[in-house]
Amino acid sequence: MSVLTFVVIGLLLYWSLKKFMKPRNFPPGPPSIPILGSLPFMPKEAMATGILWQHFKSRYGKVMGMMIGDQPVIGIYDFDLIKEAYSKEEFSARPNSELHDFRMLGKKRGIVMNDGYGWKVHRRFTLKTLKDFGFGNASVEDGILEEANHICDHIAKKNGSPFKAEDVFNVGILNIMWKILTHKRFDLEDPRLANCVRAINGQFSSDRVRIVLAMPWTRHFFPEMSGWNDWKKFAITMQDMTKQILDEHEPCFGPNHEPLDFITAYKEEAKRTGDPEFNDRDLQTTISDIFVASSDTTAHTLSWGLLYMILHPDIQKKVQHEIDDALLGREPTLEDRARLVYTDATLAEIQRRANIVPGALPHRVSKEMKLGGYTIPKDSMVISSLYYVMHDPDYWKNADQFDPTRFIENGKFRKDERFVPFGIGKRICLGDTLARNELFVVFIRLMQRFNFEASPDHPYPKEEYLPSTVMGPKPFHLRAIPRS
Ligand code: HEM
Repeated sequence: MSVLTFVVIGLLLYWSLKKFMKPRNFPPGPPSIPILGSLPFMPKEAMATGILWQHFKSRYGKVMGMMIGDQPVIGIYDFDLIKEAYSKEEFSARPNSELHDFRMLGKKRGIVMNDGYGWKVHRRFTLKTLKDFGFGNASVEDGILEEANHICDHIAKKNGSPFKAEDVFNVGILNIMWKILTHKRFDLEDPRLANCVRAINGQFSSDRVRIVLAMPWTRHFFPEMSGWNDWKKFAITMQDMTKQILDEHEPCFGPNHEPLDFITAYKEEAKRTGDPEFNDRDLQTTISDIFVASSDTTAHTLSWGLLYMILHPDIQKKVQHEIDDALLGREPTLEDRARLVYTDATLAEIQRRANIVPGALPHRVSKEMKLGGYTIPKDSMVISSLYYVMHDPDYWKNADQFDPTRFIENGKFRKDERFVPFGIGKRICLGDTLARNELFVVFIRLMQRFNFEASPDHPYPKEEYLPSTVMGPKPFHLRAIPRS
């Protein structure tokens, strides 16, 4: 072997050790090999379900580290450590990814996968605007109630015959958001809603595409198998749709020149501040972010809700009795929450058990940090196991049982800081209040109008996840029998 070959092999070895091996004082985790990193050591089941590496908790403890390709990935299971990390700006960036850049029209924009100054101003503006339109404001509340009634009317048309829960919630929930964004609602049968739901579902259910997130080069070699082609197709559908929404949108003001929808408010903010961060492309991405973040999440939670009511008919009855006694047949308002303690606790238990976003969304560490005594390298991807926090057997009594009473104390709803379906810290869901209000009103209307039971013509539903970033139950059939 010539000296040159020897040197080249030596350099290659050094490069691959540096690039693919774990850095010093990295949290414990599975081994790592060049190119693939720890991928061959991932349990198949954890990859498929998206219940992120709970499997590893018993082996490696509260913080674990692994390599996916040359990307360091950290999993945090411990509530206090997640709280400590996610209260810091440095743990609150989002991964740099060409996959998401493609969705965001070429670079980081909007809210969900944006970071830095652009994220801050968009998050602040969106939070404030949604609040101004009023999470408790009569028009948003009326909008939710109107949509809840349309969903119930749609279910009533089934005349007691079996249907799939997933088919009834998505479009209705999307319509609530559509009205907040554009001041318009659609008929539930409108193909635009169905088209948008398909694109959102497609992006979330493409679990395979996580590989492209960690190893971007795979998309060039396996564009189909890696899920890249599907991702692009769904992203383009959303881009076309948000562009059309903007092209057709007419500014909409109230009597005191106050904006009546999100898009009008955004354009006014752009004029008022002159900040170039507020522009049409960021607005397009923000609209897409809000649609994507709000619809599957809320709709899947409602599907889980009906599943649990079928699996626990005694709890369904108790909820209905409480609602009937308190409301005497009238429609709910948000002010009824304090009187519907068992119903509110049941909704919390549905969210705890269903845990539809088990690993939250991935964060990125913007500079080298310490956590739990370990070194977390700059640009590591961080996953927080919300699943573990809400199912920790050392904290929750009979964590695997469906039991609403865990959220009741002395006849009142008991708040628990480890109830974290919306995440923790600086990146916590900005639609949490809106989502809780939607769930409250829609669930109550469903319970008032129907008894839900399993379909006798289909397999009995089970508490099983459909693998995805946002996890709904495996499709199941049910019957809705109108209540007299
Ligand atoms: C049951 C319904 C919902 C659940 C369980 C849920 C859960 C979550 C979770 C876990 C995150 C990620 C937190 C993190 O990265 O650490 C998130 C982010 C987000 N959610 Fe929700 N969400 C729901 C409904 C909504 C709704 C209705 C909206 C509408 C505005 C919304 C808007 C967002 C946005 C914009 C983000 C990104 C926040 C950021 O990156 O700063 N979500 N949500």
